[in-house]
Amino acid sequence: MILLKLLWRIKLQIQAVRGFRDVLPGEVALWHKVEEIARSVLERYGFREIRIPILEKTELFSRSIGESTDIVEKEMYTFTDRSGISLTMRPEATAGILRAYIEHSLFQLEPVSKLYCIGPMFRHERPQKGRYRQFHQINAEVLGSSDPRTDAELLALLRTLFEELGLGELDFQLNSLGCPRCRPGFRSKVAEYLGSKKAHLCSDCQRRLMTNPLRVYDCKVATCKEALAGAPVILDELCQECGAHFLSVQKNLSLLGVPFSVNPFIVRGLDYYRRTTFEVVSSDLGAQNAVCGGGRYDGLIGELGGPDLPGIGFAIGEERLVSILQGRAGVPSFSLDLFLAALGEEATEKAFFYLDKARRLGLKAEMDLRGGSLKAQMRRANKLGSRRLLILGEDELSRGVATVKDMDGGTQVEIPLEELESAMAGWKEACSQRG
Ligand code: HAM
Repeated sequence: MILLKLLWRIKLQIQAVRGFRDVLPGEVALWHKVEEIARSVLERYGFREIRIPILEKTELFSRSIGESTDIVEKEMYTFTDRSGISLTMRPEATAGILRAYIEHSLFQLEPVSKLYCIGPMFRHERPQKGRYRQFHQINAEVLGSSDPRTDAELLALLRTLFEELGLGELDFQLNSLGCPRCRPGFRSKVAEYLGSKKAHLCSDCQRRLMTNPLRVYDCKVATCKEALAGAPVILDELCQECGAHFLSVQKNLSLLGVPFSVNPFIVRGLDYYRRTTFEVVSSDLGAQNAVCGGGRYDGLIGELGGPDLPGIGFAIGEERLVSILQGRAGVPSFSLDLFLAALGEEATEKAFFYLDKARRLGLKAEMDLRGGSLKAQMRRANKLGSRRLLILGEDELSRGVATVKDMDGGTQVEIPLEELESAMAGWKEACSQRG
């Protein structure tokens, strides 16, 4: 019978969609910390937040990310809505930000726009640790500047952000993908070289050979990696302008003291990149080791119907960032300023009144409305990590006082009830000063 009931319950239970994960309350404090520091650093570097829709017309992504990319070919959540329009849940934010930038003529407001957005993205990839079908990105774009100092400034921002998160050791890898002048020559050389190694390539890369040979550089399959051992390198093929741009980016990174290494195999999985591309990699993550990816996409704003303005940006994967930070000291946890324990009906009513007062004064306060013994209520206060415990028993009530215990220091004082509100205001003041 019990077994039957259990099976019935399991049958009734609905689980999350594969690759879509819940961020439970125990983890949320870390997400808040990451986003708070990210917003603070982004705004210090001149970025302003933009909020864009999750749904966009499918064509926006196929035109910007590229028809022959993995994302557009096989990873998008695309459906036809009730009006017969093909819509896609954003697999990344750059295309949507550019669409909004063009649609609202933001380029008329200022010569260079710095925009950021934080939120969920959707890709139907094979889920594994660090790779989900719904994941979150912190995304930043600089629109309107082709100056190599902008590239360096963006990487310096990332350095500051990771340092403030306590991740000073991340590896910044840099490359240039050239421009429409120098890349076609490189692409033919790659196609020719890889054509001679076709038998050693995985089936995906054999197909990529026809559609997008540069994608082979990004393949994780061992035989493909081996086949690339003597492959042509884009940095040898850059035109004079792209070469000068890349050198200037490196010079400016050195000026700002941003450590980096050049990795000519960073080709990125989206087709819109030109010139500078980069990834920030962590040795703490497994196969999915890129915490951040980005690069320049001069030409894309024009291709999407806007003015011919350059652009560059990055996106940080929040799940991967949080997963590295989880292994570190100083992970923030939820804590209370005040727990109110009451014994007896009349004391409970009073405590309930002061609970609301405390919250209105700005304190994080809680009580257990189920009541229970003082011991049980104290256990709950401890579990919630409360800084103070306020006890209102029948004895306190008859004397018109509350007992307040400092949970860290263990000291205990009695406060007359008529002074309680001003005492609580003082605790709030002390909390604010402590930060
Ligand atoms: P991306 O390299 O596709 O670039 O993604 C950026 C970051 O998002 C990755 O480095 C990774 O940390 C995270 N990420 C990507 N896919 C997943 C996934 N399935 N699960 C968990 N995390 C993931 C872009 O999206 C470009 N829009 C970046 C950009 C902005 N380039 C210029 N501006």
